[in-house]
Amino acid sequence: MKTTLCRIAGTPLTKVVDFGRQPLGNGFLEPHQFSGEYFFPMEVGFSEDSMMFQLIEQPDPEKMFHDHYAFYSSTSNYMARHFKEFADQVLRSGYLVKDDPFIVELGCNDGIMLKNFASQNLRHLGIEPSLNVAREANKHGVRTCSEFFTEQLAESIVAEHGQADAFLAANVMCHIPDISGVVRGIKKLLKPTGVVMFEDPYLGEVVAKTSYDQIYDEHVFLFSALSIRYLFALHEMELIDVQPQTTHGGSMRYVLAHRGAYPVGDSVVRLVAGEQEQGLDRLATFESFRVSVEESRTKLVSLLRDLKARGKKVAGYGATSKSTTILNYCGIGPDLIAYISDTTPIKQGKCTPGMHIPVVPYQTFKEDPPDYAVLFAWNHAEEIMAKERDFMAAGGKWIVHVPEVRVL
Ligand code: TYD
Repeated sequence: MKTTLCRIAGTPLTKVVDFGRQPLGNGFLEPHQFSGEYFFPMEVGFSEDSMMFQLIEQPDPEKMFHDHYAFYSSTSNYMARHFKEFADQVLRSGYLVKDDPFIVELGCNDGIMLKNFASQNLRHLGIEPSLNVAREANKHGVRTCSEFFTEQLAESIVAEHGQADAFLAANVMCHIPDISGVVRGIKKLLKPTGVVMFEDPYLGEVVAKTSYDQIYDEHVFLFSALSIRYLFALHEMELIDVQPQTTHGGSMRYVLAHRGAYPVGDSVVRLVAGEQEQGLDRLATFESFRVSVEESRTKLVSLLRDLKARGKKVAGYGATSKSTTILNYCGIGPDLIAYISDTTPIKQGKCTPGMHIPVVPYQTFKEDPPDYAVLFAWNHAEEIMAKERDFMAAGGKWIVHVPEVRVL
């Protein structure tokens, strides 16, 4: 699915960065699958009308979210805590009716957030098109529906359960090319007093930190308060609060409601002013972003080549989807990075998409540590640094690429 028009405003998109041929970010594969591997040209565009930063082409969602989707949210303890806090905030927010509230989560994955509502016997429904992760959610007592969310699905949910008090999503909204269809569905699903609370990686952070690895096939959009406000305003909805999050290397939680239902908070006014100052409404900002991305690539590749020349062993830590963009954009393969360790069983024994670096179990990292480890899961740096004191004590060094390429 390629578009030359902004998915929100319908006006022409301007190409801002070209990442070349990219595979699926989560497309970990075995050697017998190499010959049929799927690639697409990954370019990003920006619209000064909607202020939406978006992929120009995106693979069909069916290629990415299916019954062997490799991403399980609950692999990180930190994320489990984060979603417990998110759920607690929803419960304390005052937006839910006291008597029998109904909570819907889009892309509930393995139930990491909804299980906090399920355990309190609150009415809930998780919408999760990837069957394997939805089954995992069911094991945690989370009720799911394995379909893509559309206006029609919203209507059938309302017919069966009534309207919702809260519509939640985490790291999901930015995945959906037909986001306008989702917002139309939300408009129907929400009670007049209902709220939408969702979070996604934040464009402001991506630009500030040159964390271009947030751009991959699944992230069709990177949002800002400006673009979210624009999108929802087209459907008579309003951004009423924003709350920065540290997850995924810098995310934003957006709270929206039907227009006029609640006052617009100062947090929105402040963030929007900050974004205008940062230039998130202007093409020129993304032209400088492209230059920073190119510089980051040059530095990372020359660092890895230099380490190789010095006979150092380099591995990767965390076979993230994000790493797929870095590896393929920079042309980094098994010659520069021997292996990537990852705790997710479904990724182990496979190879990384496109560059085919072996993904090994975490034990390999413990038993055969490298001299240098590229921290591809840099968004979990705090948790990982605390866990890997032995690696550092034994002289192991980390390589990070955000906010700039350096050895720690
Ligand atoms: P994630 O942060 O979700 O990144 P992305 O959205 O880019 O895939 O994924 C983190 C990956 O890192 C996941 O595959 C699990 C792995 N991981 C480890 O191997 N060890 C760890 O200590 C942590 C926190 C994550």
